[in-house]
Amino acid sequence: MSQPTTLSIRRPDDWHVHLRDGPMLAACAVHTARQFARGIIMPNLVPPVTKVAEAADYRDRIRRAIPAGLTFEPLMTCYLTDSADAAELVRGKREGVWVAAKLYPAHATTNSAHGVTSIDQIASALEAMETAGMPLLVHGEVTDPEVDIFDREAVFLDKVLAPLLQRHQGLKVVLEHITTRDGVQFVEAHPDRLGGTITPHHLSYNRNAIFKGGIRPHFYCLPIAKREEHRLALRRAATSGHPAFFLGTDTAPHTADTKECACGCAGVFNAPVAMQVYAQVFMEESALDKLEAFASLNGPRFYGLPANEERITLRAQPLEAPERIEVPGGNKNVVVFQPDTPVGWSF
Ligand code: NCD
Ligand code: ZN
Repeated sequence: MSQPTTLSIRRPDDWHVHLRDGPMLAACAVHTARQFARGIIMPNLVPPVTKVAEAADYRDRIRRAIPAGLTFEPLMTCYLTDSADAAELVRGKREGVWVAAKLYPAHATTNSAHGVTSIDQIASALEAMETAGMPLLVHGEVTDPEVDIFDREAVFLDKVLAPLLQRHQGLKVVLEHITTRDGVQFVEAHPDRLGGTITPHHLSYNRNAIFKGGIRPHFYCLPIAKREEHRLALRRAATSGHPAFFLGTDTAPHTADTKECACGCAGVFNAPVAMQVYAQVFMEESALDKLEAFASLNGPRFYGLPANEERITLRAQPLEAPERIEVPGGNKNVVVFQPDTPVGWSF
């Protein structure tokens, strides 16, 4: 079957994005705004975004970082800590600042030291969110060092998320950046109240890529890529058209020096190539007709927002992307993600 030479879809949104702050924000925001109309902004700054006023200020800084001529709407999230304040959550939602709140289990990933140590600690916050109709976004990994790193998502579903859903029956939850077949099946089992986001990189490579020919830090992120069977389950879920699965890049920039060292940071910077890589995956799965649902329709539906009216066009041409982007003022740069396999889409 001949492939199309262009692909036009409604403008997509990114339902999981790290834009950082300061010079990194200045360097990165444009790349997300070129592709996406809206983004769910992760709150794991240092210190984390826990107050309505901090989120409103951060939103202003993001808006100022978007170059003229691009439109991008930051959708802000509250970072939940053990002392999460139910009243602050509800107020931020009512004032149109917060769209959702983010649960990082303490020490699960980058800048999660202030995260939640036990779900019991945030029960009243979760009850308030349930009543206010505010989704909970979950980094779904247990942090127990006894649990193998490749099992931490599956164990989290069983030990933490299942009881949480049982206890808070009206809460809407997004299982972020799913990396396993277990994650796919868990979302499918609760289609009325669960969403699952899937990154371009977890669709593109399995855990072998991290070690191909030596340690490759730019393929290291959390949750870590799993076995091939899990990648295939993610590809089936993303390309299925199932409304619970939607786009979240988890673009997570770190300067090259902080990844290429003895204890490198977790995170893949994919913003400049995200839609091109997703289109490649959907083409390989003969599912280009499902890309718009995944990228542009299912997310807004979950969040109760309108789909975007504008459109974007991808061209069936070899990927053109910079190898690195410069971070202003400090001679630092961020390596841009590229899969090992060819990407035949440009944007
Ligand atoms: C993210 C980051 O760098 O902030 N890193 C990552 O590997 N994905 C945090 C996160 O989403 O886990
Ligand atoms: Zn993330």
